[in-house]
Amino acid sequence: MPIVAFYSKDSKTELLEEWEQRLQSYFPSIKLVDLLSNQAENAVTALLWKAPLFRVNELKNLKVLISLGQGVDHLLKENIINKKIPIVRIVDPFMAKSMSHWVIMSVLNFTRDTFGYYDQQKTKTYKVRKEINYTNLKIAVYGIGAIGKVVARDLIQLGFKVEGWSRTLKNIYGINCHSGRDKFELLLKTCDIHICLLPLTSETINIFDKSSFKMMKFGSCFINAGRGEQVDEEDLINNCKSGQISYAFLDVYCEEPLPKKSKLWEQENIRIWPHVAAETNPETAAKQIAKAIKCIENGKPPPNTIDRKVGY
Ligand code: NDP
Ligand code: OXD
Repeated sequence: MPIVAFYSKDSKTELLEEWEQRLQSYFPSIKLVDLLSNQAENAVTALLWKAPLFRVNELKNLKVLISLGQGVDHLLKENIINKKIPIVRIVDPFMAKSMSHWVIMSVLNFTRDTFGYYDQQKTKTYKVRKEINYTNLKIAVYGIGAIGKVVARDLIQLGFKVEGWSRTLKNIYGINCHSGRDKFELLLKTCDIHICLLPLTSETINIFDKSSFKMMKFGSCFINAGRGEQVDEEDLINNCKSGQISYAFLDVYCEEPLPKKSKLWEQENIRIWPHVAAETNPETAAKQIAKAIKCIENGKPPPNTIDRKVGY
C-alpha cells in the first residue's frame, strides 16, 4: 500500500481527503497521512506545500518530493533537503489558464481605467475618461515558461504587443523573445505593462527593486504573480506614491498571509489578492501526481522533475 506524507499549510484535513480520493482512482490502496504523524515515517512519497522541512528530512524511506504547486521555492528555501531526492512540480494547463485569466483581468482593469470609473460612480459623475490606445502598449512578460507562455499568447490574442523574457533564449511563434540582463533593462525601459511570472531563485530575488522601477516609463503598470521576494515592497510603494507606477496588481508577498501592518494594504493604487491567481486543482492535477508516483515505483525519472542546480 503506497503511503504518501501530506502537508499543505493553511489548509484543512478535507484537502488531504480530497487528494486521497483523487489519487485512489489511480491507486485504490493509496493512503495519505499527515506529514507530522508517526505514520508518515513509512512514506515513500511526500506531497507538500510550505511544509516544515526539518520533518521531511526525518522520513528515511522517502524517494520523491512532489510540490503541491508549480513553484518549488518552498522546498528549496533552507537548502536542507537531500539532493538525491528528486523534486517534482505540478505543471497544469488548468493553472496556466487560471493565471492567464487573472493577468488579463489586471491588464484590462489598467487599460480600461476600471478604478477611475469606480471612483466616478461614488460621486455620480457621468464622464468619459481618457482612453488608452491598447495598440500602442507593449507588455513585458518576465518568465515565459509553462505559465508565462500561455499568458503571453492569450494577451497577443487580445491584440497586445508582447515581449517575453527568460533565462535561456526562446523561439516562440508570435512572442518577441529575449534573455540576459541587458534585454531585461531594455524591456523595463520600453514596455508599459510589466508582468512577473518568474520562479524565485538566487537570480530573481529582489529583481524588481528601486533601480528596476526607475528604469520603467512613468505611469507603468506592474503585475506580480511570481513570488513576493522578487519585489522590494518598500520601493514599489514609493514608486506607486510618486506615480512612476500608476497601478500595481499583486498576488504574492514577501510574507504570506500579508501582515495587517504591511503598508501595501494602504496604498490606493495597489490591488491586493491573497495568492489565488492560479490555485492548484486536485481534479486536474491528480493524474500527473499519480504518474510521478508510478515512475518512482518503476525506477524511472518522473516528468517535471526540477533542476536543483538552476533552482526551478
Ligand atoms: P517555469 O519553470 O515553467 O517557467 C519559468 C520561466 O522563468 C522560464 O521561462 C524561465 O526561463 C524563466 N526564468 C527563470 N529564471 C530566470 C532568470 N534568472 N532570468 C530570466 N528568466 C528566468 O515555471 P511556471 O511558468 O510553471 O511558474 C512560474 C512561477 O509562477 C512559479 O515558480 C511560481 O513562483 C509562480 N506561480 C504563482 C502562482 C500564483 O497563484 N500566484 C501559481 C503558480 C505559479 P527558461 O525558459 O530559460 O527556463
Ligand atoms: C504555485 C503557487 O506555485 O500557487 O503553484 O504559487
